[in-house]
Amino acid sequence: MHNEHTDSHFQKRIDDGEHIEPKDYMPDGYRKHLIRQMSQHAHSEVIGMQPEGNWITRAPSLRAKQILLAKIQDEGGHGLYLYSAAETLGISRAEMIEQLHTGKAKYSNIFNYPALNWADIGAIGWLVDGAAIVNQVSLQRTSFGPYSRAMVRICKEESFHQRQGYEIMARMMKGTKDQQAMAQDAMNRWWWPALMMFGPHDIDSPHSGDAVKWKIKRESNDTLRQKFIDKTVQQAELIGLVMPDKDIKWNESKGHYDHGKIDWDEFHRVIKGNGPCNKQRLDHHINYFNEGAWVRDAAEAYKIKHLKEELVIA
Ligand code: 3HC
Repeated sequence: MHNEHTDSHFQKRIDDGEHIEPKDYMPDGYRKHLIRQMSQHAHSEVIGMQPEGNWITRAPSLRAKQILLAKIQDEGGHGLYLYSAAETLGISRAEMIEQLHTGKAKYSNIFNYPALNWADIGAIGWLVDGAAIVNQVSLQRTSFGPYSRAMVRICKEESFHQRQGYEIMARMMKGTKDQQAMAQDAMNRWWWPALMMFGPHDIDSPHSGDAVKWKIKRESNDTLRQKFIDKTVQQAELIGLVMPDKDIKWNESKGHYDHGKIDWDEFHRVIKGNGPCNKQRLDHHINYFNEGAWVRDAAEAYKIKHLKEELVIA
């Protein structure tokens, strides 16, 4: 009888395009890789609620406030899907949160920049969620079943996020000169950090080898980044925004836009904790996590009480 609990059998299942489920045999490296990526993905969704949350009370209309509230609630839900999917690999929510709070785990670079005005809310929706969609549509085909299914669910909501951001930018570009200048300034500040969201160049990506071998990643960092650039440049030009990269130029032979060099020193500075808002984001999360301890304690007490009652009845 063929032993199904071997790395070679596992790799054959991956090569055959099968989904790996939580109870299936998987090499430790595969499990660790997914826990790292999925928990950091979940942290990103939840930390990402902060820059936008600061603008709920300052939204320029009731409609804008309703849309922003719906988007932020979606992000919280995305975080919960991803934490739950990561827990199927044997890590607890408490361990993941502890890794976030101690800096052992990362979250996306992009959320360490300040949202300075309403145009930033447009740029975040259009560029950040736009980049996230390109990455997450690809991740729908990831080999780990729960992650793939979470992505399918999340992608359905992301397109609304990107559309509402683009609508804000389009409206401002039809507005006063000051509004146009605000939109252009937001574009200038968010464009390059959005490109960094896709991770380092493939040649500098230590995890991509395994990620591709195990079909966790179906397309590379650079391939997805290029896809995002190609579609976003046209959207910018359509509403009159100027690309903050003088080297952006359509390359007919490649069928893609050429672009300028990304400042990887800034990327590494930010992901090492030295971005404009890293301390603020983490302090905020820690404060509210501690403040909400009573909710977790009450839920735990309720669970234990009901377990005891069930035992008595049984
Ligand atoms: N921000 C922070 N850290 C990053 C990063 C980024 N944008 N890109 C890469 N890194 C880190 C990696 O985590 C890794 O560090 P680690 O070993 O401590 O984890 C290191 O840089 C090397 O990068 P690699 O490319 O080798 O790492 P990966 O193979 O994991 O690729 C990734 C990075 C493309 C971000 C991949 O992890 C991924 O696809 N993750 C899932 C998507 C995700 O996390 N998106 C975050 C945004 S979610 C979001 O925007 C919500 C939206 O609704 C607004």
